[in-house]
Amino acid sequence: MGKSFLLGMMSLLVLCGCSPSGADRQADRITVGFSQVGAESEWRTANTASVRAALEAPGFNLKFSDAQQKQENQIKALRSFIAQRVDVIAFSPVVESGWETVLREAKAARIPVVLTDRAVKVSDDSLYATFIGSDFVEEGRKAARWLLQDSEGKPGPMRVVELQGTVGSAPAIDRMKGFHEIIDADPRFRIVRSQSGDFTRAKGKEVMEAFLKAEDGKIDVLFAHNDDMAIGAIQAIEEAGLKPGQDIRIVSIDGVRGAFEAMKAGKLNATVECNPLFGPRLAELVRDVHAGKPVPKRVVVEEGVFVASQAAAELPKRKY
Ligand code: AHR
Repeated sequence: MGKSFLLGMMSLLVLCGCSPSGADRQADRITVGFSQVGAESEWRTANTASVRAALEAPGFNLKFSDAQQKQENQIKALRSFIAQRVDVIAFSPVVESGWETVLREAKAARIPVVLTDRAVKVSDDSLYATFIGSDFVEEGRKAARWLLQDSEGKPGPMRVVELQGTVGSAPAIDRMKGFHEIIDADPRFRIVRSQSGDFTRAKGKEVMEAFLKAEDGKIDVLFAHNDDMAIGAIQAIEEAGLKPGQDIRIVSIDGVRGAFEAMKAGKLNATVECNPLFGPRLAELVRDVHAGKPVPKRVVVEEGVFVASQAAAELPKRKY
């Protein structure tokens, strides 16, 4: 075989975009390995649907993996994506820490990583290309600001309980931080109990039952880190013979349809929006990162706050 024949074949391979990593690249699709946290909440279901719709569109080849709320599953999924030599890895980290090693492995394999929804704590931020998601600290502050506004003219003391998200997760850490930043400065409020309900309805109900028992029902306010836990807690409050939304004022985070229904029924007082529908923007970022184009290191999702009086009008417009 002559040297010029070999050179000719090589340039042909370059021109047709063929690469040793297989059929996906030949078809000119971006292969994305996406590791999702799990299916713990209404928010997560909406987020999965949004990401799937955007990354199952033409131009992409999605490899989807559900971590069932376990970091070890997520690390396994990431390693499998690296072994399969996907073009881009995207994932929503269950917890904040413990990612350094696997992210270094992705970097060594030259696979760019896009963080979605939740942040990681790493010493080197070149381990990921960009992070798209909400400002969780601000969400905690918004919940606290609503409580201050709703408590205008109320003398206190007000006994507050807090249903936290998954231990070690960015939304649990940040929402707590934002909420406390504002509430702790007002002497009328006392946070009497704080415990994780793991972002699920079942756990939210279980922990709220324990709170009610321990506090002998003397709770004025519930701050839940997500709507699902608030909805679970509402059941516990009703079963204890109290009126959610009246005897115990409730503010939670996400803005899912279930929360709007609860607000419409007068059982939830306010919800801070956390928008899960960022699939289309994620797809753009993946495309740019894959093309080597510059992308912002942080893309923040815009969101609002809704109170019970808006629920009936807003409910038909909700997209998740
Ligand atoms: O990371 C986002 C949070 O995770 C949402 O608030 C919650 O509902 C979900 O489980």
